[in-house]
Amino acid sequence: MVIAKPQRKRGKGRRNNSRWCLLHSIREIDVVMSTTALVTGGAGFIGSHLVDKLVSRGYKVVAIDNLSSGNIKNIRHHLENPSVSFRRIDLKHHGELLKCVKEASVVFHFAANPEVRVSTVNPRVHFEENLLTTFNLLDAVRQSRNIEALVFASSSAVYGDVSELPVSEVYPHSTPINVYGAVKLAGENLLNTFAKLYGFRAVSLRFANIVGPRSRHGVIYDFVMKLKKNSGRLQILGDGTQRRSFLYVDDAVEAILKVCDSLNCSVDVYNIGNDDWISVKEIADIVTGEMGKKGIPYEMMPATTDGRGWLGDLKFMFLNISKIKGLGWKPARNSYDAVRRTVVSLISELCPEMIE
Ligand SMILES: NC(=O)c1ccc[n+]([C@@H]2O[C@H](COP(=O)([O-])OP(=O)(O)OC[C@H]3O[C@@H](n4cnc5c(N)ncnc54)[C@H](O)[C@@H]3O)[C@@H](O)[C@H]2O)c1
Repeated sequence: MVIAKPQRKRGKGRRNNSRWCLLHSIREIDVVMSTTALVTGGAGFIGSHLVDKLVSRGYKVVAIDNLSSGNIKNIRHHLENPSVSFRRIDLKHHGELLKCVKEASVVFHFAANPEVRVSTVNPRVHFEENLLTTFNLLDAVRQSRNIEALVFASSSAVYGDVSELPVSEVYPHSTPINVYGAVKLAGENLLNTFAKLYGFRAVSLRFANIVGPRSRHGVIYDFVMKLKKNSGRLQILGDGTQRRSFLYVDDAVEAILKVCDSLNCSVDVYNIGNDDWISVKEIADIVTGEMGKKGIPYEMMPATTDGRGWLGDLKFMFLNISKIKGLGWKPARNSYDAVRRTVVSLISELCPEMIE
C-alpha cells in the first residue's frame, strides 16, 4: 500500500512520498529497496528487533545508538550487510545527527532511557535522555527537509492513573504520574508541532510492556536476575497486585509496521498492547516456575499504602487497542504467553549455567 499523499503542500526539496512505503509487488519492492530508515536506539531491545524486520523487508537501515543500555551484539548479525550501517552517536549531542538524518526518508525514534523508576530519584536523566534527545532529532529532521515520516516510541505511562480501563487514545485527562511519562507526553507534543510546522508525518505509539529476547529492563528481567543471584526467595517491588498488559516483541514490531503501512494523517497516535493483562504476582509465579524455583517465598516490598513498587509506579494499566486492531493487526500471543516465552529466552541469554 502506498501511503496517501499528504494534505498540505510539501516543502522545497522534499522527496515524493511514495519513496517510503511497505510494498510487496515486484515494482513496489524496487521502491522499498531504495528507502533508508533511520532507527534511533537501533542496538536496543525493540530497536534491534525492528532493524531485523526492516532488513528482511528490503530496507536500507542506519542504526544510531550510544550503547548506554543497548548492545552492539543485538545487531552484530547485520554488521557485514552493506544495507545496514551502525553509528555510535549520542543524541544529546547533535553534531553528527544531521548527516545521518539526511541519509534517510523515514525515522523510527526508539532511543531513550526506558527505566521508568530512574526518574523517581533522578528526573534529569529522563529530561536529558528522553526529551532533549527527541528535540535534537526533530531539529535535525527540520533541517534535513527530506524526512517523510517519524515514528515515535511513546508509552502507556503518558496516561497516568486513569479512571476507566482499558484506556483509549482519546482519553482527555492524561496526567502522567512519573517524569518518564511526562517526558514522553512532551515528546509527543514536540513531535506533533514539528510535523505540522515542517511538513512530515508523525505517529506516536503508546506501548504497553513490550517483552521478548534481548530485553534488559522491566519486571521480568528484574526477577530473572534476582533469582540468578539469590534463589532462596524473591523480592517483589510493590504488593504484587499491580496489573498490566505484556506484548511480545514480534507482535510489537508487526504493529509498528502495520501503522506505517496505514499512515494517512499528518499526526496520529496508537495504543499498542494486548487484549489481556496479568499481575506482578502471576509474573513471579511464571518466572519461578520456569527457573525451577516454584514455591519459594515472596517478599513483597510496597513503597506506598496502595501497594505500588515505587513512587510513580502505575498500579494498573490496560490499553484499549481497538484503534490499531481496526488496521487489521492483532496480537498473536496473550500476556501470559509473552511473559513465559520471554522468561525462557532470558534464562538462555542470562543464565546459561541453568541449561544442561
Ligand atoms: N520495552 C518497553 O516495555 C517499552 C514500553 C514503552 C515504551 N518503550 C520505549 O521504546 C523505546 C525502546 O525501548 P527498549 O525497551 O528497546 O529499551 P532499550 O534500552 O533496549 O533501548 C533504548 C536504546 O536507546 C539507546 N539510547 C539511550 N539514550 C541514548 C542517547 N542519548 N543517544 C543514543 N542512543 C541512546 C540505548 O543505548 C538503547 O539501545 C524507548 O523509547 C522506550 O521508552 C519501551
